[in-house]
Amino acid sequence: MPAFSPPEVKPLIGADELARRIAELAAQITEDYAGRSLVLLCVLKGSFVFAADLARSISLPVRCEFLGVRSYGDDTKSSGVVQITQDLTRPVEGDHILIVEDIVDTGLTLSYLREQIRSRNPASIKVAALLHKPARMQRKVEIDYLGFTIEDVFVVGYGLDYAERYRNLPFLGVLDPTAVPSS
Ligand code: IMP
Repeated sequence: MPAFSPPEVKPLIGADELARRIAELAAQITEDYAGRSLVLLCVLKGSFVFAADLARSISLPVRCEFLGVRSYGDDTKSSGVVQITQDLTRPVEGDHILIVEDIVDTGLTLSYLREQIRSRNPASIKVAALLHKPARMQRKVEIDYLGFTIEDVFVVGYGLDYAERYRNLPFLGVLDPTAVPSS
């Protein structure tokens, strides 16, 4: 049982299982990019925990860049409008980019991001996503390194939020939005 576990969040994927799967993804990434250096593009805010764990498990020279996007507001449904809240601070032209996403839901954010990054002329673009919810897919997107496929449920923890809450939970859980306390 995790130390901090709010009653409105039902545990789905525990910290040990997350760590095991991330180590497998990192080993595959290390093998695939052998001899090259890699730019991990962490999509803020939701991916910060996943990206931190993934980065530390990859045995290659890695540069970390951060891009802020917002598509949900304070809701559990995507607004469909992707907004860049924080842009890259360095050029990525000629770099091998691995976009690190927390979750691919409708696919709108990722397809928008891919286009944005492609226009900056990197050497290559691949995607690592911790979670995929295929049930709500609107735009088909390729995920090169996928952690887990999940049902159509709203999850929080391990970086993912609901109205900016729950990001610090060390596990992933399903949120009951009707039971969220007001403060
Ligand atoms: P998409 O554009 O619908 O694929 O949504 C992608 C973004 O929506 C993710 O990067 C998350 O920030 C957010 N999101 C989608 N599903 C969830 C969820 O179940 N919990 C928390 N955030 C989510």
